[in-house]
Order: sequence, then structure tokens, then C-alpha cells
Amino acid sequence: MTTSITKVVFPVAGMGTRFLPATKAIPKEMLPVADQPLIQYAVQEALEAGITEFIFVTTPANQQILGAHFNANAELEATLAERGKVAELKIVTETALGVDQVKFCHQDQPLGLGHAVWCAREFVADGPFAVILPDDLIMARPGCLKQMVDAHAKLGGNIVAVEDVALDMTHRYGILDVDHDDGKVVSAKGLVEKPSPEEAPSTLSIIGRYILDGQVFDHLDRKLAGVGGEIQLTDAISATIANVPFHGLRFEGARFDCGSMNGFVEANVVFGLARSADPDALKARLKVHL
Ligand code: G1P
Repeated sequence: MTTSITKVVFPVAGMGTRFLPATKAIPKEMLPVADQPLIQYAVQEALEAGITEFIFVTTPANQQILGAHFNANAELEATLAERGKVAELKIVTETALGVDQVKFCHQDQPLGLGHAVWCAREFVADGPFAVILPDDLIMARPGCLKQMVDAHAKLGGNIVAVEDVALDMTHRYGILDVDHDDGKVVSAKGLVEKPSPEEAPSTLSIIGRYILDGQVFDHLDRKLAGVGGEIQLTDAISATIANVPFHGLRFEGARFDCGSMNGFVEANVVFGLARSADPDALKARLKVHL
């Protein structure tokens, strides 16, 4: 079974309240981890997985900023070229996506992740398509989405990235009700969004990477509120389990929860060391403070 996945949805309409005031004027996804904004890591991961169409579900204000980041910037490129800044010019030109590759749609109310994906339906309804939550930053080779696309070529259906979390953290994630687990690929008979530790069917949690069949829209179209009064993507996947094969993939790599302050700072340290021209000097400086 091989179906190519060419489209990705980025739900990036959030207010980033946990990072105020940093996110007062810019979207959370534009916060840099080392030298790149979060959203750029997400786009690079998607490109590596063979994605050619990028759908941003956002707000009009955030669209301006995200658009400016991914558009070509002729003036900046000309200035860098004039000044012989070859490496910088390469960075800037490589950031640009083709005008036809980028689509924007708006989520005007914060009704949940399922609703955000539903807002992109006109671009992806035929499925399958990928969803990346950029604040789940993953360091992996190959990238997490590429690992999932390869798994999807064999398994089809809906696939999510999963990892084990501590029992007292299940209330922050979508949790799998495991049917069969071979250590890498997990099939599940159900999914529960943000269960308490007592209610959690396992500790295997969804990390922000999905490959979805268009059938999720059959459920999302009904706009049913789930946990927290929000329209949950987890519920839509769960509702299709009888018709669409569902698997969790234990991806290889390290995930950083950049939706929390600690995870974001941890990512900055780890990606900073990986991307630094002089990581030993950075490590030495960090040791001074620790
Ligand atoms: C969302 C999903 C949840 C998933 C999580 C991964 O929750 O609803 O199922 O486990 O992303 O980061 P959120 O973090 O938006 O509350």
C-alpha cells in the first residue's frame, strides 16, 4: 500500500498565552529555538518527508508574520548579495517556500485542535494528509514525519506519533487504548483525550504528529465538543477506528514540549548545542551557571 502524502496542516492560531509577553505581537510558532523559529523546524521536517503543500490554520494577524517569514524577500536577498554574505543569503533563500505551496486559512474562534484541522478541510478533504503541531519539536534522523510516512506506506489509515509519558501526565495528552504493541507499532481499539491517571487506558500518548485519512472530517463536520468543551481531533480519530486502521508509531528521536517553559528552554539548550559553531564553549559557559 503506497499513497503519497503531499499536504501538511499546521494548526497555528493559538494565542500562546503561556509565553506572554513574548507572544503578544508574534505567534508562538515564531519563537526561536536557537537560530530558527519553531515553525521552520516543522516545515523542514515536512519537506524531508516529501510534503509539497503547506496549510497554515491561523489568524489574519499571524498570517502576515508567517507569510513574511516564508515568502521570498527580494530586498533582503539583494542586500546580502551586494555585501557578499553568501552563507546568510543561502539561509534566507532556503527559507522561502513557493507561492503555490503555501495556503492560509483562518480559525476565528479557539474551538480546539479538531476544529483547527476542520478549518483546513477544503485543502485536504481527500486525504491522506499530515498534521504537525510545531510546539512538539522533535530531534530525529530521519525526521519524525518521514518515519511516519514510511510506516503509512505499509499500514495506511490513521497514524499518530506516540511516546510513553508518566502516569501523572496523561491528563495532558491523547492516550491510546492499546490492542497490540510490537514495541514499535501499536494498534489501538480506542483513544481518550486527556484522561485522569485513574481513567487512562495506558500511558502511551499522542505527540503532535498525525497522518490522517479524509474520513476524520465525517466526525469533525458534526462539531461535537469533547473534553474541555473543545472539538477534539482525538475524538475524530477514535470515531473512525472501526473503518480506518489506526496505529501509533513509537518514533525514534527526542521530543521537546515547547508548549511549556521548561521544554522550550531545554530545546534551546539541546538544539543550541547541536547548531552551535562552538558547542564546547557553550557547554563550558553553561557549566559556569549550573
Ligand atoms: C493536543 C492533542 C493531544 C495530544 C497533544 C500533543 O493537545 O489534543 O491529544 O496528545 O496535542 O502535544 P494540546 O497540547 O493542544 O492540549
